[in-house]
Amino acid sequence: MSQSTSASILITGATGNIGKELTKHLASKGIPFRAMVRSMDNLQDFEGLNFSGAEVISGDFNNPESLQNALKGIEKAFLLTNSSEQAEQQQATFVNLAADARVKHIVKLSQWAADINSPVRFLRYHAVIENLIKESGMAYTFLRPNLFMQGLLGFRETIIKQNQFFGAIGNAKISIVDTRDIAAVAGEVLSSPGHEGKIYNLTGPESLTHHEMAEKLSATLGRKIEFIDITPKALKQTLLHVGFPEWQAEGLVEDYAHYKLGEASEVKFGVREAIGNEAKSFDYFVKDYASMFSA
Ligand SMILES: NC(=O)c1ccc[n+]([C@@H]2O[C@H](COP(=O)([O-])OP(=O)(O)OC[C@H]3O[C@@H](n4cnc5c(N)ncnc54)[C@H](OP(=O)(O)O)[C@@H]3O)[C@@H](O)[C@H]2O)c1
Repeated sequence: MSQSTSASILITGATGNIGKELTKHLASKGIPFRAMVRSMDNLQDFEGLNFSGAEVISGDFNNPESLQNALKGIEKAFLLTNSSEQAEQQQATFVNLAADARVKHIVKLSQWAADINSPVRFLRYHAVIENLIKESGMAYTFLRPNLFMQGLLGFRETIIKQNQFFGAIGNAKISIVDTRDIAAVAGEVLSSPGHEGKIYNLTGPESLTHHEMAEKLSATLGRKIEFIDITPKALKQTLLHVGFPEWQAEGLVEDYAHYKLGEASEVKFGVREAIGNEAKSFDYFVKDYASMFSA
């Protein structure tokens, strides 16, 4: 980690699911970057930030001055926030300040099926920001991943203690994607030319029901894991119980209603198009993360 480099790439959300894989990916290729973080504490846990070419700078999406500071001298910026009620405003502020700072290219982490008219609030705000970036005149690349395989880690405790995980999706298939593939695509787009004006739909190589995921987990973990389908109301209560704010809990219920209609079941090839490799399978994910699902 260094205080200052000649980095021309800015990574936001660097301590999140995708960001931590993205900084690791860039570090493994020796590509310098600036990472914007909210807090300078406990950064030793982030492998990518220990790279000598990583300049770590403090910044908060709710503090425009800190964004201006983070954007100084940047040519390409990776934009990611979590999906909160503030996300649209935070991302809009970032895009406007990036344009002012003469950033050339924004790589935005969006979501599968982003659409301004979607009944899913997350898909609407992502589409609003995609449009704002297009109108800004900066080059853009939109990464639209499907549901993350690593989302299953949110059920780590119930999988370990009860051999169960939950969702409101019925028997619908979904082409879930590994966050390491999303990070590899982001890394490639940020460090090589030819991705301007592109939208990459990022899915895994197959579409699975949650019951099929449970079977695959059972086979690898050597014990029976069950998927329990619950009602949207029960899903919301569970999310509120584990601490999600109301807006996010309702958004996740909307997400699952859209998945249940089979609207996220198609397999797309954005990973192959962007990096030339096939996307990681769910079997591969389960084998890699097996130890995390056992006591
Ligand atoms: N989960 C899915 O299955 C899925 C599927 C498709 C698309 N997506 C999209 O993926 C995105 C979330 O990605 P993720 O899972 O990697 O996110 P995440 O793990 O929740 O990480 C969010 C990152 O944003 C940072 N952050 C939050 N508020 C901030 C603020 N005010 N100022 C500066 N940084 C701030 C966090 O920093 P701290 O460490 O300081 O909190 C963290 O680094 C969302 O846009 C969502 O719509 C998710």
